[in-house]
Amino acid sequence: MDMKKLAGDKAAEYVKDGMVLGLGTGSTAYHMVNAVGELVKNGMKIQAIPTSKATEAQARELGIPLLTIDELDHVDLAIDGVDEIDPQFNAIKGGGGALYREKVVASMAKEVIWIMDESKLVDKIGAFHLPVEIAQYGSKQAMEKMAAYGFNPVLRVKDGKTFVTDNGNYIADLHLGAGFDIQDVYGKLTGMLGVLEHGLFLNMCKRMIVGCASGEVKIIENPAK
Ligand code: A5P
Repeated sequence: MDMKKLAGDKAAEYVKDGMVLGLGTGSTAYHMVNAVGELVKNGMKIQAIPTSKATEAQARELGIPLLTIDELDHVDLAIDGVDEIDPQFNAIKGGGGALYREKVVASMAKEVIWIMDESKLVDKIGAFHLPVEIAQYGSKQAMEKMAAYGFNPVLRVKDGKTFVTDNGNYIADLHLGAGFDIQDVYGKLTGMLGVLEHGLFLNMCKRMIVGCASGEVKIIENPAK
């Protein structure tokens, strides 16, 4: 049973004709993008904004009409994956390094849906590292600042090389541990010199769609939205 596909397919049911859709990034969003491609093939008229070069390539391949960020004036619905999420709808995102574009698109969206397999549901976020996108210039100083706060930053490396995002920046992965003080870390990272954006997405989604090993798909509505 592919839990990620269950969630991705279910989320596509919320896509309606005429929508401007935010397409997320990652292995769960991959299935949702395929399902949206199927809707387009069957005649649904939508426009989409991808949150990474990888998703853009996938969407193009599927014939999904795309907008650029400069053409975008609204987003009806954004659908994306998460790395961890707690019962208060606080999420960590950016495991794939796309957090900045994901946050730009989700912040514009009238409605946000997070899709996931059940392993992403946690009591307290923080066992997963918190990704922070930082400028290359001054990255050493930004890392030192985060280390001084006790955030245990590790510069992300992929295939033996420092990972570079779609925006040309580095990622610092913060090892905070489950139960860290979310507001404190949020406050210290916001506006820190050299930090473009961080992967804390707090109470942004209207619903979670969770694919379970049993084959069930759970839909958890956010009462605050
Ligand atoms: C990409 O940068 C991330 O925010 C993903 O949305 C998140 O890491 C979830 O990815 P998976 O669906 O691959 O677990």
